[in-house]
Amino acid sequence: MTVDVAAEVLFNRRLSEAYNVLGLAAPDVARHARPGQFVMVQRAGEIDPLLRRPFSIFERLVDDEGRVIGLSLLNKRVGRTTGRLYDARPGDVIRCLGPLGQPFTPAPPPADTWMVAGGVGLAAFALLAQSVSAAGRPARLFYGARHAGELFCTELFEREGTTLDLATEDGSAGERGLVTAPLERALASTPAGHDVVLYACGPTAMMRAVSALGASYKRHVEVSLEQVMGCGLGGCYSCVVRVRRPAGGTHFVRSCLAGPVFAGAEVVWEAVGH
Ligand SMILES: Cc1cc2nc3c(=O)[nH]c(=O)nc-3n(C[C@H](O)[C@H](O)[C@H](O)COP(=O)(O)OP(=O)(O)OC[C@H]3O[C@@H](n4cnc5c(N)ncnc54)[C@H](O)[C@@H]3O)c2cc1C
Ligand code: FES
Repeated sequence: MTVDVAAEVLFNRRLSEAYNVLGLAAPDVARHARPGQFVMVQRAGEIDPLLRRPFSIFERLVDDEGRVIGLSLLNKRVGRTTGRLYDARPGDVIRCLGPLGQPFTPAPPPADTWMVAGGVGLAAFALLAQSVSAAGRPARLFYGARHAGELFCTELFEREGTTLDLATEDGSAGERGLVTAPLERALASTPAGHDVVLYACGPTAMMRAVSALGASYKRHVEVSLEQVMGCGLGGCYSCVVRVRRPAGGTHFVRSCLAGPVFAGAEVVWEAVGH
């Protein structure tokens, strides 16, 4: 069920000069949210920019008695709206429409869940780690960034029992290089009979590489695309993405309705921007 709420900011945890985690009192959105879904948000009363912006639902927030009190966003400041979310203070009001879009398909037991995150792509995975852990299933996170100062919230995944494989381009934390290197080693050393589903979110080049690895090791891959979105509701066609039809050929679909989660194998990667 999609709702549009005026959500009060519960907290703003600054992680670096560009990243923060913003807690929003939006229990009605959080209660229905499934991993991989997103919200369209904007500061209340804002007209510049006019349009809301899409954000993955990072965590479902619960109080000490386990009651759902809201959700959090992992925000990277790149422009006007993300700048305002970075500067938001407790008590500010954010318009929040959601949950929207198609969620990740849960890995069918006994398949393991392997998440692959690059940079702010981590935002798609806290809720997935929470739900895999609640189901008593194992999860593994391959998480890459440029340097140690851009690896965030790892403790949150550890708390859910997720196994971490970290990589940084400069070698300041975890393995030096791209996160696809430890992923490929893990795929190569896992017997074919051991079922694994891969979930990727991050730079297009990384998701494309994960899809290619999944194809070579015969593993199902789901990616969460970050197409620019104007409405999030299917009305503006700003988010179209080219995908393969099961019967052959390709066509365009709206990422806000058909996605943002797609099977890696169905995406026509040459046609995906950035
Ligand atoms: C489904 C989905 C989930 C997302 N989840 C998150 C998330 O959890 N956390 C997060 O920080 N960001 C997320 N994004 C990206 C986020 O929506 C953009 O960074 C945001 O729209 C930029 O808005 P702005 O007003 O701050 O920037 P603007 O002032 O509009 O633009 C500033 C710069 O950001 C670029 N930009 C705008 N939209 C995007 C985009 N979709 N992807 C990449 N660059 C963009 C512009 O081209 C421009 O260069 C998500 C995007 C999608 C589609
Ligand atoms: S964002 Fe408007 S149609 Fe998808």
